[in-house]
Amino acid sequence: MSERILRGRILSFHREPVGPGDDDAFTYHEDGGLWIRDGMIAGCGSFDVVSQRAGVFDVIDHRPNLILPGFIDPHIHFPQVQVVASWGEQLLDWLRDYTFPEEMRFADPDHAARMAGAFFDLLTAHGTTTAVAYCAAHPNSAQAFFAEAHRRNMRMAGGKVMMDRNAPEGLIDTAQSGYDDSKALIGEWHGRGRLHYAITPRFAITSTPSQLAAAGALVAEFPDCYMQTHLSENHDEIAETLRLYPDARNYLDVYDTHGLLGEKALLGHCIHLEDREIARLAETGSHPVFCPTSNLFLGSGLFDDAGLRARGIVNAIATDIGGGTSFSMLQTLNEGYKVLQMQRQQTHPYRAFHWITRGNALALGLEDRIGTLDEGTEADVVVLNARATPEMKLRYETVETLAEELFLLMILGDDRAVAQTYVAGAPMKAPA
Ligand code: GUN
Ligand code: ZN
Repeated sequence: MSERILRGRILSFHREPVGPGDDDAFTYHEDGGLWIRDGMIAGCGSFDVVSQRAGVFDVIDHRPNLILPGFIDPHIHFPQVQVVASWGEQLLDWLRDYTFPEEMRFADPDHAARMAGAFFDLLTAHGTTTAVAYCAAHPNSAQAFFAEAHRRNMRMAGGKVMMDRNAPEGLIDTAQSGYDDSKALIGEWHGRGRLHYAITPRFAITSTPSQLAAAGALVAEFPDCYMQTHLSENHDEIAETLRLYPDARNYLDVYDTHGLLGEKALLGHCIHLEDREIARLAETGSHPVFCPTSNLFLGSGLFDDAGLRARGIVNAIATDIGGGTSFSMLQTLNEGYKVLQMQRQQTHPYRAFHWITRGNALALGLEDRIGTLDEGTEADVVVLNARATPEMKLRYETVETLAEELFLLMILGDDRAVAQTYVAGAPMKAPA
């Protein structure tokens, strides 16, 4: 039995904060103890109380750093680690010129395996302990993804992209093979260890109606799998979708009529939506995923977080590597803050840190397992240092409140601010 106590300043949210003064939305222990036993959280409270309850164990002293639940990134492309920072294009040209050629390389199992190792190293270096990932079209890219996640005992979701048109020959499947390969991967990996399968039709442009029907059949057969795709990211994409699906009432209707929506549905981007689409997202309980660094990098547009929330929709927030430009959920909050500022929407740091932990867990329906530091949940944890760089250190001198510290972390922080990441209780970084 492996047991340890992490000592430090502990912060965990138990509901979404409604405003700057909403201190009841979280638990904060100035001198806290997080008791971890066999990969699970066995207790969380003040250090004195927890250490007495636990008996004497290995204590890892993280003071004066902050201990939070590990970050959750619900939209990221595993085969785009080497696409990040590709110059000059908007969505459709960027896909054609950079992304599709790169994803072709994942036909090679050795390349896929090497990239999987690098991918999970990068996630944990940035404090991310759960992600929902797109793999490439080749089933072996998903094999590499799941095998590596399983080896590291991470709570991960992913799926091979289904795409049977409008992409290079070496990258496309068929409606039947996309169905068969996805089903085989679900059988092999979904529910194994901490893994989940995400049924992954890439987007309407790269799937024929028969392939979306096959994806819908999978959703009906495996209702506890996620379904992920892209929606209304870019004006040319929307126009092309409506040309390819002339009977659709709008973009979302393409997915709706193929049975893809629901509480397990994660829809990347959702920027240029019609009123009727917003109403259907709300009715079906589907989740838009805000991808700020990507939306700015590809010049896609501004996500209307407040507008969607006002309709009762639960939005997630994610990196979207490699359209996105940072693996860091802190930097994602930084850019997200600016995108929302442009629309006179202010994200308070309490809400921001709730969003990348429990908020994203809620969108995934996993809030009972991850996203908090509650007793009985899984010990995925990040330790943050708000004095990690010279400029952070200097700014920290004038910080007086927890909210100010969190804001400093989300504006100036990145992987350098991540002092340690624990996956199911196991440290991922060599101690400094
Ligand atoms: N739409 C379809 N595929 C992609 C992708 O790989 N990245 C982004 N940002 N949008 C997409
Ligand atoms: Zn994406």
